[in-house]
Amino acid sequence: MKKYLLPAALCLALCGSCSKSASNGADARMDEFIDSLMSEMTLEEKLGQLNLLTYNGDIATGLRHDSDMAAEVARGRVGGVLNARGYKAISELQHLAVDSSRLGIPLMFGLDVIHGYQTVFPIPLAQSCSWDMAAIEEAASVAAAEAAADGLDWTYSPMVDISRDPRWGRVAEGAGEDPFLGSCVAAAMVRGYQGSDLSSPRSVMSCVKHFACYGASEGGRDYNAVDMSRIRMYNEYLPPYKAAVDAGVGSVMTSFNVIDFVPATANKWLLSDLLRGQWGFKGFVVTDYTAIAEMEAHGLGDLAECSRRALKAGVDMDMIAQGFIGTFDKALQQGDVSQKEIDTAVRRVLEAKYKLGLFADPFRRIAEHRIDSVKLTPESRTLARRLAAESFVLLKNSEGLLPLRRDARVALIGPICKARKQLQGTWCVAADYSDYLTLHDAFAEASGGRMTYAQGCRVSDNERVEPVLDALRREVDYRTDDEAMLREAVQAARGADVILLALGETAEMSGESNSMCDISLPATQKRLIAELSRLGKPMVLLNFSGRPNVLTDVEPQLDAILNVWFPGTEGAHAICDVVYGDFNPCGRLTMSMPRSVGQIPVYYAMLPTGRPVDPAKEGYQMYRSNYMDVENSPLYPFGYGLSYTTFAYGDLQLSGSKLADGGKIVAKVKVTNTGTRRGTETVQFYIADPVASVSRPVKELKHFERVALDPGQSAEVSFEITPEQLAFYNSDLNLVAEPGEFRVMAGSDSERLQSASFVYEQR
Ligand code: BGC
Repeated sequence: MKKYLLPAALCLALCGSCSKSASNGADARMDEFIDSLMSEMTLEEKLGQLNLLTYNGDIATGLRHDSDMAAEVARGRVGGVLNARGYKAISELQHLAVDSSRLGIPLMFGLDVIHGYQTVFPIPLAQSCSWDMAAIEEAASVAAAEAAADGLDWTYSPMVDISRDPRWGRVAEGAGEDPFLGSCVAAAMVRGYQGSDLSSPRSVMSCVKHFACYGASEGGRDYNAVDMSRIRMYNEYLPPYKAAVDAGVGSVMTSFNVIDFVPATANKWLLSDLLRGQWGFKGFVVTDYTAIAEMEAHGLGDLAECSRRALKAGVDMDMIAQGFIGTFDKALQQGDVSQKEIDTAVRRVLEAKYKLGLFADPFRRIAEHRIDSVKLTPESRTLARRLAAESFVLLKNSEGLLPLRRDARVALIGPICKARKQLQGTWCVAADYSDYLTLHDAFAEASGGRMTYAQGCRVSDNERVEPVLDALRREVDYRTDDEAMLREAVQAARGADVILLALGETAEMSGESNSMCDISLPATQKRLIAELSRLGKPMVLLNFSGRPNVLTDVEPQLDAILNVWFPGTEGAHAICDVVYGDFNPCGRLTMSMPRSVGQIPVYYAMLPTGRPVDPAKEGYQMYRSNYMDVENSPLYPFGYGLSYTTFAYGDLQLSGSKLADGGKIVAKVKVTNTGTRRGTETVQFYIADPVASVSRPVKELKHFERVALDPGQSAEVSFEITPEQLAFYNSDLNLVAEPGEFRVMAGSDSERLQSASFVYEQR
C-alpha cells in the first residue's frame, strides 16, 4: 500500500531554488499533504516518526521480519535509520517501511558523512586550513552525491563547534577556533550537501551539530560539562550554527553538554527561544546519540521525565534512546506532554521527508545504477588531491629545504607509512581502501625509487594509548622492537640526502572520545627524532594529526615541518605533490598551535588584560599576565602558514577616516609575490574595537581573500567595512555597533599585521 506517496509531478518545486510564490504554493501543498497524512496516523505511528534507530546489520542478509528492527519498521514505529549503508540494505529497509507498514511512510536514512563518502577528503579541521570555501563546498557536494547514490538522505554534518582546546579529540571534525571562518565553512558545507534542490537525488539534508558549544567542554575532555557566559556564546560560539541556519540547514543536532547547567537536549531557551524564536529555524531538531537517556545521568530524572523535557524544549527526533516512543503513551494520558507538542514534532519530521522528495519517490536516492558514475570519479579524486594539498600547513622550512629535488635520495621513516586507512582520519565508514595509495608507495613512485624505508618506532609507548591503536595493528605488520627499529631507521637514513619522518598521531588518536592530555609527539617518536638528528642530515617532519600538536621540543631538531593532518583518499599523492614542489603549500592554521598544553586555551581573539606584558621586553614579567616558564604566544599562530614563495605587503590604505551609518570604508592592501614560484597568499583582515561598552577581543577576523600570484605579480586586495562588521552582542545581548575609533588590520596571519584606524560615527 503506497497510500501516502505523492505523484512525481507534485514533487517539483519543493524547495530552495524555487521562486517565492512557487515555494509558497509548494508549502501549501506540503501542508495539505501532511495534514491529511497526520489525520490518518495513530499515536504509535506518530511516535514512530520521532524514533531514530541505528542499523544493526541483520536485515541485509534477507528480509528477516522477525528481527527487532524489521518488526519495528513494519509496524511504523521507526521514522529514520542511521548507520545503514549500501543501497541493498537501505533499499530493503525502505521496502519494508513503504510496503509493509500501514501508511507506507518512507524512512529517512542518516549517516555521519563527515569528510567525504567514498572519496575521502581531508578531515574537516584540515579542510578549514585551506580557507578555500569553494573547494570545501564542492567537496561537500561530492560527498552528498556519493552518499545519496548509496541511498542516504541525511548527513550529520557539518560539525561547527568552535574549538579552542586541542586536547579535545573532536577538534578534528570542526573548523577550528574562529567564529567568522567557522561560519563561512558552516555555510559552505550546508550549501554543498543540500545543493539548490533538496529533493535532488544528488543532495542530502545537512544536520548542523552539536548545538551548542560542545567544543568548550571543560579540560578538553569529551562529553564533559560546558559553562560560559551568554555574551561569549553569542559573540564567539553561536555564529557558525547561526550561519548554517541562515544557509538553510534542514536539521540541527543537540549536543551532549549542559548549557547554563541544563543539558542542551532539554534546554528550552536554546532549542526554542534562540533557535526557532530568534533565528527562525524551520527544520527539525534531532538529539545526539542516546542524549535523552544520558540526561538521567545528568540528574534530570528518569527516562520518561528526560523525554518529556526534551520534547518540551524543542526536540523533534530521539536518536536511539527510544524515550519518546517508550514513554509518551503514558505521558500523554497523564497530561505530561500534549498531543499538540507531539504533533508539532511529527510535522517537522514529515516536512523534512517531504522536502527530501521521499514521499514522491522513497527510492529516489537508492540508485544502484548511478553509484559507479558518481563514486570516486576522476574529478572527485582531483578535487580530493587539491584540497588535501591546500590543507597542508608548512610550519617551518629552514633554508628552503622543501621542495625536494626529484633526484634527492630520501629515507621515509615512520609507523604509518605502509598504512592506507590511516590516511583517512576519523569518521569514514564508506571508503574503499583499495583505492588508497600508501605514503610508502607514493614516495617510491615520486622519488623514482630513490628511497629507503623503516618503521622507526612505535606510535606511542603510553600504556593507556598503545592498546587502543588496534586499527594500525590490523592494517600493517606493526613492530614493537624499539631498539632494532631505531637501528634500522639510522641505517635507512645513512645513505639518504634527506630524512622524511611521517610521524604524529594515528587516526584513532583524535575524533570522538579521543581526548588527550599530552598532545606533544609521543616519547617513542621524540626518541627517534633525537637519534636521527645525530646524523646531521636535513630532516622533514610530515606531521599527521587530528589536532594542533605541541611541537615545541622537537621543532629545533627539524629543518622543515609540514602539517598534513589526515589527508584522505588522495593524501599520499598530495603529500608528494607538496614535498616535490608540484604544488606550492598555502594552508593556514585555523587553530593556534600551543607551545605548551599549560597555555590552553590559546587563541588569537583573546580579551585584553589590564596587565599586558610589555612586548619590548623578553622573559618573565612580574605582575603582568604571563607564565613564569613559557611565553604567552602560541608556537604558531592562527592564520599562519608558509609558502615556497614569499609575499610582500604594501601599506594598508583606507578610503576614508570616517565611517557613517549606511556608509562604508574600503581597506586595501597590495600584495606582491616576491619569490620565484607561483603561490597563493591568504590575505587576512582583522578588526579591533578598543573602546566599547564591554571589553572586546584584541582582534577579530572579519574578511579574507586567497590570491594566486605569479612571481613578480601583484594584486590589490580590498575589504569593504560597513557598520555591520563592527557589530557585537553587548551585555543585553543586543547586536550593536558602537561609535568610536576602530582599528583594521591586514596581513598574512593573526600576528603579522599592519593596522590603520578609522572612526565610526553614529547619527
Ligand atoms: C556523535 C555525533 C554523531 C552521532 C551519530 C554521536 O556519538 O556525537 O556527532 O553524529 O553519534 O553517529
